[in-house]
Formats: sequence, structure tokens, C-alpha cells
Amino acid sequence: MARDIRAIPINRTCNDAVSISMCGGERNESNPSWMGWVDYAIHAPPDGPIPEDWPSVNEMKVLLKATGEQWDKGGLESPSKDGYLLPPGYGDSDDETADEAIRRLCGDWRRILRNARERDQPDMYPSAESDLQEFLSTGKSGCNHEGAPMPLKIQVVILPKNRVFGAHAHPTIELELTLRGALREVRLVTNDASKPLSVPHRGPWELRPEGKTMVGPNFADSGDLRYANLPNGAQWKHMEPVWAGKYLFNEVGSVHKSYTGPEDGAFMVLWGGIHATMSANDEGSAIPNSDFLNLDHITNANGEPKQ
Ligand SMILES: [Fe+2]
Repeated sequence: MARDIRAIPINRTCNDAVSISMCGGERNESNPSWMGWVDYAIHAPPDGPIPEDWPSVNEMKVLLKATGEQWDKGGLESPSKDGYLLPPGYGDSDDETADEAIRRLCGDWRRILRNARERDQPDMYPSAESDLQEFLSTGKSGCNHEGAPMPLKIQVVILPKNRVFGAHAHPTIELELTLRGALREVRLVTNDASKPLSVPHRGPWELRPEGKTMVGPNFADSGDLRYANLPNGAQWKHMEPVWAGKYLFNEVGSVHKSYTGPEDGAFMVLWGGIHATMSANDEGSAIPNSDFLNLDHITNANGEPKQ
């Protein structure tokens, strides 16, 4: 059963979703059942290594079918093909059946997971490759609040236009594929192009009392030496939107604020099921371009760029 994104119970995994704030109009309030996490997950083999043929085509079919049903329930633009929500370029024409398109998508997803160069992503932390190799060899990534490596899973979240995730850090790697719309973000990156930014802190992050999120970095706390160098070495940066059909890789400990723009979006994510969240007070006004986090200049209340 699809769930309202604001009512995801504790044992669900999108902890950021609970803190998503509504920035748009009333359109989605009348039929919220299509929003939120699709009720199916593909679990990675927890003991590694990750097989070359993971995930299976059948698992991907089930996930994309469940996603298509939830997407179509909202009557959103670009409906599913034969009930499957496929990204652009897969099954667009009658020359390729949905089955053939999913098989091809599955192959591309497996390849792009392993090929950082193909993702063509700037501002990667130096730890990206070793983070990925850890997952591929052990089936786990990063660490939970007790310091133990975490298993990963693939899920899809459907978000309406003009939704904002609070700033957060990642306890595990993540691989995101945009199925619809675009994933936009302001990311903590180096402010010296000759020196890639090292991850400020990789965890373990303390679990918050409600158990749904971890306590993320506090960049405003000048007494925390883990972040003392950020104003000199880091800045906030608007990244290129990750359009439908494109991929984004996040390293363990990477920090950003994500949001949707004027399009409804569906996002497939390989992740550990929990984020280390930050309050607005912790975002760190001393870090250059912190005003980017306000996002006021991105959209107005109707999801259109401000003039
Ligand atoms: Fe994220």
C-alpha cells in the first residue's frame, strides 16, 4: 500500500522524507497516496561480493511495476509504459517492449554502479572509489550508529515538485537514478580546485531518540574540530540537475541538500535506508555560499523560477 510521505512509520526507511517541507501549492494535498516510497525494495546480498548480475531483471521488473502503479495513481505527466515506470530512452518507441527495455536498463544500472568514469560526476571526494569497492566486495557500506557496516537496498521515492530535503550526510554510499523529473542539490564541495575535499566525517553518527535518523554534522559548532577547516577548504555549490535517465553517486559522508524543482520526480536509490540529518542552525553560515541553501531563488510557490 502506498503511503503518504509524511506518515511513513519508523520501520520504513526514508527518514529524510519525514522532514520534507511543502513549498508548493495545494495540488498534492487532495491525493497524496502516490507520494513517498514505493512499497518494494531490492535488498543487496548482505555478505558480498555483489554479483555482476545483481540486481536481477525480475527484481527490477517488480520494483518498476510497483513504481508505475504508484506514479499513475497520481495522474502525473509521462505515464508508465505497460505499467512500468522507465526512464527516457527505454521503451520509448514500439521497437522495444517493456521487457526488453527493463533488461537493458538493468544491464546499464549494473555497469554504471561499477564505472565511476561513466557517471561523469565532478566534485567527487577522493574516497569515492574505495567506498564503492567496499560495497562491491563485502555487500555492505559505511557504518550504522554502532560503527557496524550497513547492508544496502534499492528503493524508489516519488516526490512532487518543490519538495526540499533538509541538509544531510550519508552514512553509506548511494547511487541514484532519476526516472522522472530532476534531482537538484546544493552540495558541500572543495573551494580549491587543485585539492579535492576530503569527507569531513564518515561516522558513526549518533542515532536520534526516535530512531529514524542519525545526528548529522554541526558546521556551526566551532568547538567541533572535525569541521574546523570547512570555511577554508569547502563551499556550498549548486550542482547540475540530475535529469531523468541520469545517475548520481554519493560517497560515504558526503553532505548536501536535495530538492525537486518545477517537475514531479521519481528517484531510484541504492542506499542504507537512513540519513544523518542537519538542522538549519547547523548548516554553517561561515562556509562560503551558505546562502545557496535557502533555495529562495530556485522556485516560487507555484514551482516556477522566480523572475
Ligand atoms: Fe542525499
